[in-house]
Amino acid sequence: MRIGHISDLHILDLDKPRPLQFLNKRLVGGLNLLLNRSNAHSARVAKRALVELDDLDVDHIVISGDLTNLALDSEFAAASKIVATIPDARRRVSVVPGNHDYYTPGAVRTDRFERHFKPYLKSDLPRFQLDGGYPFCHLRDDVAIVGLNSGIATPWLFATGRVADAELDAADRLLKAPELDGRFKIVVVHHPLLPDEHHSIQFNRRLINSDAVLEMVRHRDVDLVLHGHNHYFSILKIPKLGSPGTTYICEAGSTSASSLDNPTMAGKFNIYTIDDGRLAEVESHLFESHETGFIPWHSEVFRREISED
Ligand SMILES: [Fe+2]
Ligand SMILES: [Fe+2]
Repeated sequence: MRIGHISDLHILDLDKPRPLQFLNKRLVGGLNLLLNRSNAHSARVAKRALVELDDLDVDHIVISGDLTNLALDSEFAAASKIVATIPDARRRVSVVPGNHDYYTPGAVRTDRFERHFKPYLKSDLPRFQLDGGYPFCHLRDDVAIVGLNSGIATPWLFATGRVADAELDAADRLLKAPELDGRFKIVVVHHPLLPDEHHSIQFNRRLINSDAVLEMVRHRDVDLVLHGHNHYFSILKIPKLGSPGTTYICEAGSTSASSLDNPTMAGKFNIYTIDDGRLAEVESHLFESHETGFIPWHSEVFRREISED
């Protein structure tokens, strides 16, 4: 099974925001964000990634949050239109929200993310799903994908996240369910669980209860954690606690990033190949230009990393 991983699309909608929508947090943060992001993220690059993922024969696509910037209805409409272009999207897409999708209390209160992405939150194990829609579980072949919500409305200059205690408890029970026995287990959550070699965990950008989430993941035999938020490729390995083996924690980077000057800042997506119940390969693809699209990036390094296990 091949799983495509895209993230942090930050789809802009510059036509629609009305002055009233920039009140409070949006007034200061929103205008700033739009100015900085209008050059940094491109819907065209995100759409190109989806076309290429299709050509590369992925079976399923995971989207690890931050599909919008200000959690505006119009941004969600534009992002969900792009996601809906994925063939057989209702069966082949798993998506969780990021901090930008919960940018304001109003977006959280009106379940804006959940309304726009409802088809992709439908769980195969609804008995574990709380009222808000999480955790959900998608069972596809011998793989189980568990989606968590770490989005919370935060004060200005904060991009923190938190998985609610009740949701974490439900996820813990879900991961022990008999339907997951013998399957390759993937957990998707927007915020990173650990620092990587380039990113320490900043106080105002952290997952507040990352220790509890990490402990659950390691005790419940999770094979792969997919996240976003840093806009940077990373692959980390940590021993499982409940059984022998390794939990991989991977970030693809921001798929829509359109910088061509610096490869670390250019758009990326990952593909994970799961073979015989184990992670066999991680491929990273990097946006090169609108003419050539995405190209494979550092693939041998990642192949070596994994074959060492
Ligand atoms: Fe982001
Ligand atoms: Fe984020």
